[in-house]
Amino acid sequence: MAVEQTLTIIKPDGVARGLMGRVLEALETEGMKIVGMKMLQLTKRGAEGFYQVHRNKPFFDSLTSYMSSGLVVVAVLEGEGIIERLRRLMGATDPQKATPGTLRHRYGLSIQENVIHGSDSPETARWEIAYFFNQTEIHSRPLNSG
Ligand code: RTP
Ligand code: MG
Repeated sequence: MAVEQTLTIIKPDGVARGLMGRVLEALETEGMKIVGMKMLQLTKRGAEGFYQVHRNKPFFDSLTSYMSSGLVVVAVLEGEGIIERLRRLMGATDPQKATPGTLRHRYGLSIQENVIHGSDSPETARWEIAYFFNQTEIHSRPLNSG
């Protein structure tokens, strides 16, 4: 399986409730390598840009207000099949529908305040990583080094 990179965000509800450590521990326990990370607060416009794929959804205004409501942690994860593996660890969008043991099942509050974001495809991952990181901020190992 190919080594991939993906973008994750510990969302404002996760940071505000003191769940950064537990989320990062779960990622690392699963063998997901953190190769870039920063803390920031999105502006409303920044959140709208990031979630532009959802601009016509009824929840867009609420989503982007929430995502800009407090600090987030954005991180680049690297590993084999990492995009799909992260999505599995996150669980379903709605915490009530998420599989027990997943992060959203354990920590999610609602379909909106669901702790964590993960890119959903290689194309999305590339675009989302570039939204937050330039190449000097990503500390990837050389290709083929294991
Ligand atoms: P994400 O993009 O954040 O990783 O989440 P996802 O793929 O599981 O879900 P997506 O459909 O892409 O939705 C993006 C985020 O919008 C909020 N949402 N609210 N009120 C609602 O019905 C609703 N649906 C989605 C959630 O924060 C969701 O993660
Ligand atoms: Mg999504």
